[in-house]
Amino acid sequence: MPVSVAVYDADPRSLLRIVREGIPPAQGDSGRWMPAFGGALTDAQLTALAAYLRRHAANAPPWPNLARAVEETRR
Ligand code: HEM
Repeated sequence: MPVSVAVYDADPRSLLRIVREGIPPAQGDSGRWMPAFGGALTDAQLTALAAYLRRHAANAPPWPNLARAVEETRR
């Protein structure tokens, strides 16, 4: 996780969308798939996970707008 781009972003929504929706391969491509966790995590768990990764993977200050971003990325 320390080499992922999303944990360093000033905006947490990329990380939240990746975890919620996963990363499907391009159409017709068989490789590299990240499963979606949106149905497996509550908003509270997603918030806790993002805060943890921000702190321990990016070693960066907390996202001040995390709670709102979690709401905005809810389907
Ligand atoms: C809750 C656990 C997980 C988190 C927080 C997470 C987070 C992420 C993030 C943030 C990225 C984008 C990297 C970037 O920002 O540069 C990513 C990419 C990826 N993840 Fe996950 N991931 C998780 C679980 C998994 C699992 C279980 C798999 C596979 C079974 C997986 C497979 C992948 C793959 C293949 C990519 C790269 C996709 C591509 O660029 O083609 N992830 N993950």
